[in-house]
Amino acid sequence: MSRRWNPVHPNVTGMLHGGDYNPDQWLDYPHIIDEDFRLMKLASANTFSVNIFGWSAIEPEEGVYRFEWLDSIMDRVAEQGGHIILATPSGARPAWMSEKYPEVLRVEANRVRNLHGVRHNHCFTSPIYRQKTQEMNRKLAERYKEHPALIMWHISNEYGGWCHCDLCQEAFRGWLKNKYDHDLDKLNHAWWTGFWSHRYSSWSQIESPAPHGENQVHGMNLDWQRFVTDQTIDFYQNEIVPLRELTPHIPVTTNFMGNYPHMRPFTGLNYEKFAKHVDVVTWDCYPPWHNDWQSTASLAKDVGFVNDLYRSLKDGQPFLIMECTPSLVNWHEVNKAKRAGMHKLSSIQSIAHGSDSILYFQWRKGRGASEKFHGAVVDHVGHEHTRVFRDVAEVGQVLNQLAPVVGSSMDAKVAIVYDWETDWAIADAQGFGKETKQYAATCQEHYRVFWERGIPVDVITPDKPLDGYKLVIAPMLYMVREGYAAKVESFVHSGGYFVATYATGMVNETDLVNLEGSPGPLKKVLGIWAEEIDTLYPAESRELVMTGGARYEAKDYVELIHLETAEALASFTSDFYKDKPALTVNRLGEGKAFYIASRNETSFQDDLYERLLDELQIGAPFPVQAGKGVSVQVRTDGKTDYVFVMNFTEEQQTVGWPGRSGLANLLTGEHVGEQLELEPYGAVVLSQSRE
Ligand code: GLA
Ligand code: ZN
Repeated sequence: MSRRWNPVHPNVTGMLHGGDYNPDQWLDYPHIIDEDFRLMKLASANTFSVNIFGWSAIEPEEGVYRFEWLDSIMDRVAEQGGHIILATPSGARPAWMSEKYPEVLRVEANRVRNLHGVRHNHCFTSPIYRQKTQEMNRKLAERYKEHPALIMWHISNEYGGWCHCDLCQEAFRGWLKNKYDHDLDKLNHAWWTGFWSHRYSSWSQIESPAPHGENQVHGMNLDWQRFVTDQTIDFYQNEIVPLRELTPHIPVTTNFMGNYPHMRPFTGLNYEKFAKHVDVVTWDCYPPWHNDWQSTASLAKDVGFVNDLYRSLKDGQPFLIMECTPSLVNWHEVNKAKRAGMHKLSSIQSIAHGSDSILYFQWRKGRGASEKFHGAVVDHVGHEHTRVFRDVAEVGQVLNQLAPVVGSSMDAKVAIVYDWETDWAIADAQGFGKETKQYAATCQEHYRVFWERGIPVDVITPDKPLDGYKLVIAPMLYMVREGYAAKVESFVHSGGYFVATYATGMVNETDLVNLEGSPGPLKKVLGIWAEEIDTLYPAESRELVMTGGARYEAKDYVELIHLETAEALASFTSDFYKDKPALTVNRLGEGKAFYIASRNETSFQDDLYERLLDELQIGAPFPVQAGKGVSVQVRTDGKTDYVFVMNFTEEQQTVGWPGRSGLANLLTGEHVGEQLELEPYGAVVLSQSRE
């Protein structure tokens, strides 16, 4: 069965390589723009995102348009057979607009309006800004709808943040009225406003969370974050009206982000919702390679997790890396250059998890202002004789070789559940340990087991179906939404294995604690009742012992749980939970539901999941013998498997696949034997036909 996705546009036949190109900063330097076009060919760069911050260049005064420079750039890219991802410029506005229509400027939580400047700081409700962006986008669509280089729309840039202006307050109240059926009592109950006399007697009293009250009314904070997501999507929907009308054949995206310094999913917006409104998921990936707090392999695993999440947002459809840096950024605490080999390795990793592109921020280093020292393909010196340019050109070659991979995806039998709303709610919860809640990092630790074993994983949001998976792991699913328990029950009934942990099902969707006790609606499927959680100090630990005798250390959290229909597979050995269950299994229909009552050392996850993989007969699709820190990912179209073997260590590694022959090295076209040597940060991509 073929499982190949179409490329983003019929004109696209290979991997996209290129990135953010800002010739609008260089309009007075025509020879530099000429040089750009010479260098693009040398770097095998075929795709450019333009006009992201071009508004003041295309509409220098209200109603005065200067599209000629953009025409020329797009024409020249087309002449070279390249592609354009055309941005709508709403990420930053020209000064005339802020001056004439101050309502377009965002108001901070302290109710102070931004002055003109910076970017990504518009009001997402302002009727004037919505009208201005839509007019601008209509002009762009009218002008470029038939342009041969245009393959995709890049809507705004990295939507994020909020606005607390009066227009947004009114919109928030409207959103709440709609959600709570115009019934203030419902809202008062959902937000538990009897607490500290927060009860509202009129809608007009409701305001967005204030900076001094951030941690108080959790239901309100959650609804505010939901409103911000919905209002941002609504702003985006308004932007794309003319594009859908005039260019229905051109896909639309907006670039998603990650959270840093630790590589986590971005939490400012709920991408589970946003992804439903884009045609292709694209994201900006800036891992802090070579940092001083984790190994390269550990960071690679965190990057893999985010890639697998963003790919799964659209059910496995390949995504695009819309931005990454060829070397360093300028906004990490320490802006470290990529060491030799890392640019190629990190690029191959993105492709391995489902990206069909490597696009950069930025093509050429700006001469002034805050991003002048941010990494770029072309440095200030302006020629190709730099280390970074050579690295990029090499990646260009690699991507040419990887063209057959475009459109293939991954085939996972294991899913890890990540929930944006749980992330918000548990981060807001007062209780537990301030530093140790670590929801996303916990999901990433469970993910690690499979990453290290070359077993494909989908990281899925709770809206996704579970059928098709054999093993579904939902660490710390603190908030369980309506209908989710039924989905899990039917999954387990029909043979699935489901794993939950401490801190599951504690609250409902408005962050009210479940009165039937934890794990709330998942009690039945898990067959246990969780009475209380003990939080440990960093230096403390407890011990659990498996019925078979193996012992493990528990850190941070130990839950006192009781068996209802489940049976115990392990128990704690001390303290007030001595002899109480530490790991349980509940049989339901054909399947099993497991509950892990404490946060355990990594070997516990290794041993437990190895056992479950064994029982479920899930193996690596392409078993590789290799040392720790080597990642294996497989993309497939159902006919051909593309096997990415990547060495995320600083040592040479021998990697082998005994008994397998007939493999081709996609990067060199050569035949491969049963083993090879990977240099530090080295990678190989093998292809194997299934027929
Ligand atoms: C973001 C933005 C870019 C640029 C880069 C720098 O991803 O979208 O415009 O500022 O960061 O890393
Ligand atoms: Zn506003």
